[in-house]
Amino acid sequence: MELEQATERAEALRQLINKYNYQYYVLDEPSKTDHEYDLLMRELIDIETEFPELITPNSPTQRVGVSPVSALKEVKHLLPMLSLANAFNEDEMQAFYKRIKEKLSLDSIVFSGETKFDGLAVNILYENGFLITAATRGDGSVGEDVTHNIRTIQQLPLKLIGDNIPQLIEVRGEVVMTHKGFAKLNDRQRQKGEKIFANPRNAAAGSLRQLDSRVTAQRPLSFFTYGIGDYKGDMDLTSHTEILRQLQQWGLPVSSETKRLDGIEACQHFYAEIGAIRSELAHDIDGVVFKVNDIAQQRKLGFVSRAPRWAIAYKFPPLEEITQLLDIEIQVGRTGALTPVARLSPVNVAGVTVTNATLHNIDEIKRKDIKIGDWVYVRRAGDVIPEVVAVIKEKRANVSEFVMPDICPVCGSDVVRQEGEAVFRCIGGLSCSAQNIQAIIHFASRKAMNIDGLGDKLIIQLNESGLISTVADLYSLSTEQLADLDRMGSKSAENLIVALDKSKETTLERFIYALGIREVGEATARTLAKKYKSLELIEEATTDELETISDIGPIVALNIHSFFQQKHNLEIIERLLLVGIHWGHEKDETELRLNGMSFVLTGSLQKMTREEAKQRLLSLGAKVTGSVSKKTNYVIYGENAGSKYEKAVELGVTTLNEESFIKMIEK
Ligand code: IVH
Repeated sequence: MELEQATERAEALRQLINKYNYQYYVLDEPSKTDHEYDLLMRELIDIETEFPELITPNSPTQRVGVSPVSALKEVKHLLPMLSLANAFNEDEMQAFYKRIKEKLSLDSIVFSGETKFDGLAVNILYENGFLITAATRGDGSVGEDVTHNIRTIQQLPLKLIGDNIPQLIEVRGEVVMTHKGFAKLNDRQRQKGEKIFANPRNAAAGSLRQLDSRVTAQRPLSFFTYGIGDYKGDMDLTSHTEILRQLQQWGLPVSSETKRLDGIEACQHFYAEIGAIRSELAHDIDGVVFKVNDIAQQRKLGFVSRAPRWAIAYKFPPLEEITQLLDIEIQVGRTGALTPVARLSPVNVAGVTVTNATLHNIDEIKRKDIKIGDWVYVRRAGDVIPEVVAVIKEKRANVSEFVMPDICPVCGSDVVRQEGEAVFRCIGGLSCSAQNIQAIIHFASRKAMNIDGLGDKLIIQLNESGLISTVADLYSLSTEQLADLDRMGSKSAENLIVALDKSKETTLERFIYALGIREVGEATARTLAKKYKSLELIEEATTDELETISDIGPIVALNIHSFFQQKHNLEIIERLLLVGIHWGHEKDETELRLNGMSFVLTGSLQKMTREEAKQRLLSLGAKVTGSVSKKTNYVIYGENAGSKYEKAVELGVTTLNEESFIKMIEK
C-alpha cells in the first residue's frame, strides 16, 4: 500500500471504529458483530504497524499505554467538584422541595431525575474535542491524574463527535464496575490467588488508581456522564436535560435512567420506580439524584458550603447488612466443585430476605477468617448470589472452625483438591446426582451427541420423574414412558426416540467431548480422537503420555486420566456402547487433502467469514497463519485486501479469490 492510500484508509477506519463504538457503548445499538469490529481494528493495527508515522494519540489503537506512569500527579479542576446534600426519607424530600419553592417564589418546579451511581467521580477535560486529562475528585479542588486509565474505557470517546463542540469543557461523571464485570474480575483474582475486592466500588477505585494502564485495560470499567464543570465557547443550553442530551450527542455515555420530572410527586414516583428496578440494573446505585432542571433557576439558588442548593440525593437503603452466620454447608456444582455456602440468620437486605450466601471456596473462608457463629457483613447486588463480605471480629464469641469434608455429601465419592487449585471436587463424575443433570444437558447438546428436542427443561423433568439419573438411562427410555409425561404428546415422544436413535451414530471426538471431562472442550476432544483413534487407547493413556501431546498440559492430562480411573464412569461408558453408540474410524492426518499446506487469509470474504474459512481449512489438514512468507502456499483474498495480498504478489505466492478458494475446498 502507498502512504497516501494508507493515510486515507487509516482515517476512514478510525471513523468507522469510533462510530461502531458509539453505537455499541452509548446508543446500545450495535450494528456490527464483534468479529466485524475486530477485523477493522486488526486492519488499522496492520496499517499502523507498517506506517508508524500515521499513528495519532487519539487513534482507537492507542487506548492502552506501553509503560506504567511513575506516580499519579495532581490535577487542579477548573471548577471545584461539589458534593450533594442527602435526603433519607420523604419528610426530608418535602423539606428540600419547600425550601427551593420559597427561594424561587414558585409553586412547582421541574427536575431532572437520575440515578446516583455508586462509583468514583471523575472530571474529564476535553479541549477542541480531544480528551486531554482525566482526574479523580480528590478534595474537590485538586484530584489525581488518571488520564492513562480513563483512556482505556472503551465507552469514552478520545475525540468528541458531532457539532457545536466547545473550545474547552470539563465533563463530569462516575466510573463504575458492573456486577457481571465485578464477579468475573474476582473469579480471575481468586484463580490467581490475588486480592479479592469487597464490592464493585472498591474494585473500580483500585482499578482507576493503577499506575499501569495495561492492568486497568483488563478491568471491566464503565462510565456515566452526569454533568459538566467549566467550559469555554458558546453553549446555548438552558436546562440540565438539554445538557445531558448534548453530552450524549457528543458521544458520551449517559444513563438511560434519566427523566424530566414535573413537581415533587413525579419525583416520589421516580424514586419508587428506580427502587423497584435497582436490583436489575447492571451496576450499583445508592439513590436517585434530583436536580432543578432550569439553569437560570439553578443560578438563583446557588450553593451552601460545598453543595448546590438546587440538587439532592435521595438515598436507598444500603446493600450491605449485618447478620449471624449459623452454619456452613456444602453444595456440589455441575463440575463437581464443592462450594461452601453460609446459612445465615435471616436478614432483610434492601427489601429482600437473605438466608444464604456464597463463600466461594476454602481459601476465601481462610482469607476472610470466617468461622461458624461469626457476625458478618452480607452484601446483595443485582441478581448475583449474596456474599459474605467480611467478619466483625469485635463481636466474635463461641465460634467453631469449618472443615472441608473428604467425601462428597451427595454421592459419597472421594473429594480431591488438585495442586494449585482453590476448589475441592467430588470425583464421582456422572454417577454423582448433583453433577448429573448438568452432565446430561452437556451430553445432549448440539456439539456433543446432538440429541434433537432434548432440552434443559425436559432433562430436569425426566430426572425429577425418576426416569433418568445418568446419561446411559436416556437410551432405555420408551415412547410410552415419554408420552406419559406432562406437556408431552405421543408425537413428540416418538420424535425424541428417533432423535436418540439417530444420535447413536456419532464420531469419537463428539463422544469424548460429550463425556464432559473437566477442561476437555471440543478442541482437546478432537486432538485426542486424532491422536489415539480409539476410545480404549485413550482410556489406557497415562498422564505422562497425555502430557506429551501439544495443547495438553499437566492439569488436563490428570483430568483425563482420573476420569477413566473412576469405576462409575467406565460403567456408564460401557452401557452407552452396549446400547449401540458407535463411530467410524478417524481419518489419518496424512489422508487429509490439504495436509501440511500453509494458507493466509486477507480482506473480507462474502460467502463466509474468515473464521469459517479457517475452520474449513483446518478440517482439511491445512495450517492457517497470519503473515505471508515464502513458505506460504496460498493467499486467499477477499474485498479490501491490503498489504498481505501485495506481499504475496511480490513473493510470487499463489493468490486465490473467494470463488476459486471455494472450488478448491469443495473439490
Ligand atoms: S451531581 C453539583 N449526579 O455523588 C452536583 N453526582 O455526593 C455534583 N454522583 O461526587 C454531583 N451519581 O460522585 C451527581 N447522577 C449524579 C451522581 C452523582 C453519583 C456522586 C458524585 C459526587 C457525589 C456527591
